[in-house]
Amino acid sequence: PIPVILDVDTGVDDALALLFAVAHPEIDVLAVSCVAGNASLEQVVDNTLRILDVAGAGDVPVAAGAVRPLLEPARSASHVHGADGLGGLVLPETSRHAVESSAVELLRRTILEHPEPVTLVALAPQTNLALLLRTHPEVAANLERIVFMGGSASVGNATAVAEFNVWHDPEAAAIVLDSGVPCYMYGLDVFNRVSVAQDRAAELEAGEHPVGRVVGALLGHRIALSEDERAQYTGLIGDAGAVCALVAPEALRTEQRPVRVELAGYSRGQTLVDLREFPGEDVVHGLAGEWTTAEVALGVDAERVAALFLD
Ligand code: BDR
Ligand code: CA
Repeated sequence: PIPVILDVDTGVDDALALLFAVAHPEIDVLAVSCVAGNASLEQVVDNTLRILDVAGAGDVPVAAGAVRPLLEPARSASHVHGADGLGGLVLPETSRHAVESSAVELLRRTILEHPEPVTLVALAPQTNLALLLRTHPEVAANLERIVFMGGSASVGNATAVAEFNVWHDPEAAAIVLDSGVPCYMYGLDVFNRVSVAQDRAAELEAGEHPVGRVVGALLGHRIALSEDERAQYTGLIGDAGAVCALVAPEALRTEQRPVRVELAGYSRGQTLVDLREFPGEDVVHGLAGEWTTAEVALGVDAERVAALFLD
């Protein structure tokens, strides 16, 4: 199995991602770190612990990380995830707690102590990752890669051009991209494509399987949101798609592309992806600032990924 650490801001679709990661036999979830994003840090930690209990992964260590982005204030996404981050889903209380150490320390220890290179999957603003890479740059040597849900080579969601996770903490995303660790960007170009139909979600919610019931309820929340014509959330599996990409890379079309994060002006938080056939002088010689080559997901076999997720 692929040794994985997930960094989350649970979050309806982070919850789907955690449930999938724990259930998949080819993924070994070593630890989970939490960061403020969709909801407050305290709420994110509580949601994460409860979801891991549902998943039957009560022994996976969970740590609390950054309470807000490096520069930006914390901004709630309760209009998308509900006030509690899980769309009002009531899960059983958990007797578990986060570990005493900070997310940065849990990440450092888990990465350095693992005998094989670890894949870090970031499904949230990248504040914890940036703090980790700045505090303990030696972890880079034992990272296989960083797979992040964030950014877009086309449209944004938080603003016209910026995706929420990168927009929330643009400096952190820039630090991560510039860290030298190979990055895989699972942005809105693919994130916005993979969904589950309403009847399938309803069937799961009404079913017998305890994990399926939670998955159905979480998807149902997204579907209900999309009834508000201003929200385009249908039954998107969202962050879970980035985890699917770990085990079904052939379901995605990716390209190695120069990427950078815009830090100023209206486009703050936008990921610029150079899609030209031949990158120009500006990119080759860094004339317009730093560019990093990342693997960018630009296309997805959405039905295949949705089927994998449900399976
Ligand atoms: C991202 O922002 C959050 O709302 C989701 O959990 C996802 O990580 C999408 O822009
Ligand atoms: Ca998220």
